[in-house]
Amino acid sequence: MKQEKYIADIGKDGSRGLGTLDHCFNQTTQAFLLSSGLNPGMTILDIGCGSGVMTCWMAQQVGPKGKVIGIENNENQLHAAQKRADSHALANAAFRLCSAYDIESLHEQFDLVYCRFVLHHLIRPVDVIAKIFQILKPNGIYVSEEGIVNHAFSYPFSHVWGDECVRLTPPWVDYEGVDRDGNVGIKMVTKMRHAGFRVLFANVVQPLLITREEKALLLLGREELKRHFLEEGHTEAEWIAAGVELENVINNDAQIIGFYGSCQVAGVKPT
Ligand SMILES: C[S@@+](CC[C@H](N)C(=O)[O-])C[C@H]1O[C@@H](n2cnc3c(N)ncnc32)[C@H](O)[C@@H]1O
Repeated sequence: MKQEKYIADIGKDGSRGLGTLDHCFNQTTQAFLLSSGLNPGMTILDIGCGSGVMTCWMAQQVGPKGKVIGIENNENQLHAAQKRADSHALANAAFRLCSAYDIESLHEQFDLVYCRFVLHHLIRPVDVIAKIFQILKPNGIYVSEEGIVNHAFSYPFSHVWGDECVRLTPPWVDYEGVDRDGNVGIKMVTKMRHAGFRVLFANVVQPLLITREEKALLLLGREELKRHFLEEGHTEAEWIAAGVELENVINNDAQIIGFYGSCQVAGVKPT
């Protein structure tokens, strides 16, 4: 089994890395949460809350009678999330250092568990899905959004973005217990059903980056990925060449980027 590690830390000040996800997905995620049953008064768990943008938004939605707990296993992200909640004076958002694998240690039952782009970083997502099922109240809702990296593309084609299909082994193979799975999104309906959820809704979101400003979002957090790139056996020269190519794609108005796809799945824990 490979060692599990998160490759895109946002840095001590929490300012790097997750802006692209926010730009690409927050609007569709918010609509998805509302249509899946997010309501005032709910108690919500946000697993792998990152810099807390969605945690804070959900805290505003549930209002003073509800609460949202964001958990993270990365202290930089947690610090950034707490700072964000403080700046919005959100008394009903709380953050805990806790792994997705240990959510039962929170000793709390939830109306809704939200988890976006976290399971595709984990080697044993099924263990986490089973624990989500345990910590939900009867009729509780699991709102999941996980990646489909093979949906990434550039058009016209550039090697710097979207050749995942070539580099990754087939997306339909299940890597459970063996390796991280950047395409776990396409397996979530099946994995959630196996855990006992009744799946209510499933959909794929495919954002496009078409302006220079949107494409430049791909530069956010790039430095954090460099170590991973070199550890994978690439050279410094290749890293620099990829950077130049990415700048070319950004500045070429005729070239568009299909960002990673996201599979949204909402499931309910039957009574
Ligand atoms: C791609 S980010 C997504 C953040 C946030 N959910 C969002 O959509 O903006 C993945 C997050 O999962 C966190 N993470 C990775 N492994 C984790 C684990 N075992 N337990 C809790 N959080 C984890 C990372 O620290 C990171 O903040």
